[in-house]
Amino acid sequence: MKIALLGYGKMGKAIEKIAEVKNHEIVYRVDLNNAFDFLPVSLQNVDVAIDFSMPTAAVDNILKCFEAKVPIVVGTTGWYDQFDLIKEKCLNENQSLVHSTNFSIGVNIFYKLNKILSGMMANYSDYDVMIEEIHHTQKKDHPSGTALTLAKHILKDNQRKDKIKDRLIFDSKQASQSVKPNELLIESMREGDVTGIHTVRYESVIDSMSITHDAKSRYGFAKGALLAAEWILDKKGIYTMDDILQL
Ligand SMILES: NC(=O)c1ccc[n+]([C@@H]2O[C@H](COP(=O)([O-])OP(=O)(O)OC[C@H]3O[C@@H](n4cnc5c(N)ncnc54)[C@H](O)[C@@H]3O)[C@@H](O)[C@H]2O)c1
Repeated sequence: MKIALLGYGKMGKAIEKIAEVKNHEIVYRVDLNNAFDFLPVSLQNVDVAIDFSMPTAAVDNILKCFEAKVPIVVGTTGWYDQFDLIKEKCLNENQSLVHSTNFSIGVNIFYKLNKILSGMMANYSDYDVMIEEIHHTQKKDHPSGTALTLAKHILKDNQRKDKIKDRLIFDSKQASQSVKPNELLIESMREGDVTGIHTVRYESVIDSMSITHDAKSRYGFAKGALLAAEWILDKKGIYTMDDILQL
C-alpha cells in the first residue's frame, strides 16, 4: 500500500514505523514546512492518505484528498464543527473517509463500555457524572476529541445533562468556575508527556464508580489508523472504527 502521511509529527512518525514493518510504503509526507506545496496532484501515486495534522489543517487536507479521489483516514481532532459539510461532500461525491477521535482498539471498546454504562445509569438520579482527561502539554485542543465523544454518548442517555462544561485545570479562571447540575463537566489536565488517560466517573453520596482507559504509548492509535487505511481501500462512503471493528 502506498501511503501519504498528512502530518508528520508524533503520530505520523509512529504510523511510519509500523507501516515499514508491514511492508507498506510511505511515498509522501506533509508537515508545516511543505504544507503550501501540497496539492491534489501530489497524491498521484498514493493509494491512501492518513491525516494526523492540526485542527486548522484537517478539513483542507480532506478536501484535497476528495479532489484527488484518494481514500483518507482522519485522526486529527478539533475540526468536527465542519463534520456535516465533509460528510455531505463525501457522500455526494462518492469519496472514501474513515474518521475517529481515537483509533486505538482499546478506546473503541471503552466507548462501547461507556455507552452501556450511561444507559444503565440513566435512571439513577443519585449519581452525578463527569469526565477527566489527561494529556501531554503540547496538545493543542481541549477537551480532547476522545472526551467529547464520551460526552456525546452520555448526553444522549442522561436526561439530567444537556451541555458540556469544559474546564482546563491550569486555567485559574476556568478552574474556579462552578458546575451547574445540567452541565456535564469535562476536566482537562496537561502533564508531561502523558499519551492520553480518560476516566468517566459516577459519584453519589454513597459510593463512586469509574471506568478508565490509559494509553501506554501511541502504538495503539497508529496500529488502528493503519488497520483503517487497509480497510478503506476498496470502499466508498464515510465510516468510523465502529464499522471496522464491528463492536
Ligand atoms: N484519533 C486518534 O487516535 C488520535 C491519536 C493521537 C493524536 N490525535 C490527534 O492527531 C493530531 C496530531 O497529533 P500529533 O500528536 O501527531 O501532533 P504533532 O503536533 O506532533 O504533529 C502535527 C503535525 O502536523 C503538521 N502540520 C501542521 N500544519 C499542517 C498542514 N497544513 N498540513 C499537514 N500537516 C501539518 C506539523 O508540522 C506536525 O508535523 C492532533 O489533532 C491530535 O489530537 C488523534
